[in-house]
Amino acid sequence: MAVKSVIRQVGNHVGETVTIGAWVNNKRSSGKIQFLQLRDGTGYIQGVVVKSEVSEEIWDKAKSLTQESSLYVEGIIREEPRSASGYELTVTNIEIIHITENYPITPKEHGVDFLMDHRHLWLRSSKQRAIMVIRAEIIRAVQQFFDDNGFTLVDPPILTPTSAEGTTNLFHTKYFDEDAYLTQSGQLYMEAAAMALGKVYSFGPTFRAEKSKTRRHLIEFWMIEPEMAFTDHEESLKVQENFISYVVQSVLKNCKAELEAVGRDVSKLERIQAPFPRITYDEAIEFLHTQDFDIPWGEDFGAPHETAIAERYEKPVFITHYPKDIKAFYMKPDPNRPDVVLCADMIAPEGYGEIIGGSQRIDDPELMEERFKEHNLSTETYQWYLDLRKYGSVPHSGFGLGLERTVAWICGLDHVRETIPFPRTLYRLYP
Ligand code: 4AD
Ligand code: MG
Repeated sequence: MAVKSVIRQVGNHVGETVTIGAWVNNKRSSGKIQFLQLRDGTGYIQGVVVKSEVSEEIWDKAKSLTQESSLYVEGIIREEPRSASGYELTVTNIEIIHITENYPITPKEHGVDFLMDHRHLWLRSSKQRAIMVIRAEIIRAVQQFFDDNGFTLVDPPILTPTSAEGTTNLFHTKYFDEDAYLTQSGQLYMEAAAMALGKVYSFGPTFRAEKSKTRRHLIEFWMIEPEMAFTDHEESLKVQENFISYVVQSVLKNCKAELEAVGRDVSKLERIQAPFPRITYDEAIEFLHTQDFDIPWGEDFGAPHETAIAERYEKPVFITHYPKDIKAFYMKPDPNRPDVVLCADMIAPEGYGEIIGGSQRIDDPELMEERFKEHNLSTETYQWYLDLRKYGSVPHSGFGLGLERTVAWICGLDHVRETIPFPRTLYRLYP
């Protein structure tokens, strides 16, 4: 009797007969032998059908298989050092489940729009599969890091009555008779959670109706948002660099085959070890002026600025102390220089841009009230947030990591659209 196996585990069955549910990735024939390139989601293996060793019926079944046909294949697992997986399957039986006709994604080149329209099928390709495995490993490592370091997972709401990151990019919906918005960031709720649990983190979807069509922007993306009570800006930066180092090293350790499948130069990732370099916004402006950028002090950086700054380093770089007027209302001013705030953006190397935005939060109730007036925020909808400063206010800091930009960087991808199973980009809601 054949035991049921998956391709990833065939190493446990060398010399045994196994049954595997699989799809045909590709096929080659030399007249007397057919080579089936099989995939089952866990890995790839070559099935060898030898005409002189199987019945005519099985030989013909093998012949009828097309790209993406599905089958149960039975055979003997052999070690095969020349194959990428290290194993091969000598086919003894084939049970066809479904014969595919005219699979739209062929091994030839396709345009991006075509692939995006067929995202539900494109996901089956070896590169897209590898990206999804790396994404899952990043999520696993993120949770491991925070669980190991005394953080509690807390889930902020997705439907909210207010905005966290400015009112221009909100997705509006109705909440019965009230107006509601899809969350842009769970941060404000995570601040409340930190006052209850000390160190917390969230992991969930966030939404920004940004009319930006760049390789770094998604409309729906996933964010990891830690928030820490009794923690200042400096301490938060240390957590961030340790966190990112841990995630990158975990992927290097656990996703060797997948990093190879996406063609990543891993030597660049091996260097990602804390500590990371830091420069202030002022220093960044000065540097940009030496590079012929004519950006005035007080203006936010765009992608070309970030790339120019990041190119000087092999590791992610923190840009700290931005002008208060270009950052969110809740950031704490630097006590030595109130025109800048205790914040940092972490810019990934190799032109991947900002992956983390974070700051120390205002803990002074009066200053927070002042900011509310300046930003025309309603103290009614935000009363609960003001309460956090009214009852046992403490210094606290937090940050948000964009998952998709992190996946793009670690996988070395040109565009964030390949980092999420079904990307929501400007004007694309299908599939
Ligand atoms: O810098 P952002 O806007 O920060 C916040 O939302 C804070 N409330 C986080 C916090 O302190 N808890 O966003 C954080 C990160 C960015 O650095 C970026 O990696 C990612 O989220 N991000 C996006 N990723 C993909 N598409 C978009 N449109 C993104 N906008 C932000
Ligand atoms: Mg930001």
